[in-house]
Amino acid sequence: MSGSVNLSTDYCGFPLINPFLLASAPPTANAEIIGRAFAAGWAGAVTKTLVMDASSIRNVQPRLASLSWPGKSRRVYALENVELVTDRLFEDWLKDINQLARDYPDRLVIASVMDDASHPDGWATLVKKCVDAGARMIEINMSCPHGMPERGMGQAIGQDADLAARVTEWCVKAASVPVIAKMTPNVTDVGRIAKRCVEAGAASISAINTVSTIMGVDLETFSPLPNIGGQSTQGGMSGRAIKPIALRAVAQTAKAVNVPVSGIGGIYTWEDAAEFLLLGAHNVQICTAVMVQGMGIIGDLTKGLAGYLDRKGLGSVRDLVGLALPKLVDHYSLARETKNAAIDLALCIQCGQCVVACRDGGFSAIRLEADKTPVVDGEKCDGCGLCAQVCPVWGCVQLEA
Ligand SMILES: Cc1cc2nc3c(=O)[nH]c(=O)nc-3n(C[C@H](O)[C@H](O)[C@H](O)COP(=O)(O)O)c2cc1C
Repeated sequence: MSGSVNLSTDYCGFPLINPFLLASAPPTANAEIIGRAFAAGWAGAVTKTLVMDASSIRNVQPRLASLSWPGKSRRVYALENVELVTDRLFEDWLKDINQLARDYPDRLVIASVMDDASHPDGWATLVKKCVDAGARMIEINMSCPHGMPERGMGQAIGQDADLAARVTEWCVKAASVPVIAKMTPNVTDVGRIAKRCVEAGAASISAINTVSTIMGVDLETFSPLPNIGGQSTQGGMSGRAIKPIALRAVAQTAKAVNVPVSGIGGIYTWEDAAEFLLLGAHNVQICTAVMVQGMGIIGDLTKGLAGYLDRKGLGSVRDLVGLALPKLVDHYSLARETKNAAIDLALCIQCGQCVVACRDGGFSAIRLEADKTPVVDGEKCDGCGLCAQVCPVWGCVQLEA
């Protein structure tokens, strides 16, 4: 850890050694893997979602597809999964929760639970048994976008504010610990749903679950992806590609409610985590980065975040929370000064990308001289910034007043 900065914080009264939790997913599939994460330095974990009757859960194979960066080196930019909730017996899970609570009393074990919106008793039993086993918080999975909604569960609940509030109320009534409602991004206004859940008693909101997607289509077989016996179904996207959606959802939620928000979606690095905290998250949950890069990333996450706080002169994680929110304003509050593109010729590699983009992106304000030097016509430049976005050299094109 860098300097004097201590990353410890708290979540609804439970002390956390740092703000990094594992999200509900395969990296939290049982006590063994969660225990390994705790030993590696993770502050807490949300179990893979539990249901009372795991005999109804049968997964398909394969159940993942990916969005890769174009080119030869295959870099996974996002995953899509059609995985269901846990197929492990509820009784086995209770033993796991109990063991984790005993072995790691300083780590936060959150039980993720799911049922449908016609079973108040089912929710109450799930919640009570998990709490009796040692779960320190409950997360309501009202946000899984595939498979479970077809049975009236997951986002079938979280997309309906009335159902989301009703289920939250049932869980809160049954729980002697704080209850988190996990939001789906597949709604028009996540802040509105989060607010209803908080009014119904939720002590925290986590956001987001995966984004509803179809990852692609196999051009030879015509099967959408992932190809499961020649067919597919719509799934949920996670990883880097969903970070902007998650940041927006977290900011909207943080503005709408006055309870702690747990930020989730596309977090790989300490910089990603810091962005979530700045937009109002009190801690973050991570899944895909761990599935792809391993749980050892916790070392870089904590070291990097501590160094950043130190550099910014902030004494704790809490001091960072929400600092960017006042800068998120309505469109018509934004500055409207005139700006033009300015190209740093010392950095320019004369690739011509800015010329093409500006010409066919609307303005024809950049031309290449005979020696390939780009020149900006200030009269034609509209200051849109497309040239700065497409330039392959960081910092080469700036917008200047
Ligand atoms: C394979 C897979 C399985 C998942 N299973 C669950 C689940 O059982 N319950 C749940 O609430 N979220 C589940 N999620 C969603 C994650 O908890 C998380 O919200 C989402 O992946 C976004 O975070 P990320 O970009 O860090 O992966 C799953 C995600 C993946 C990739």
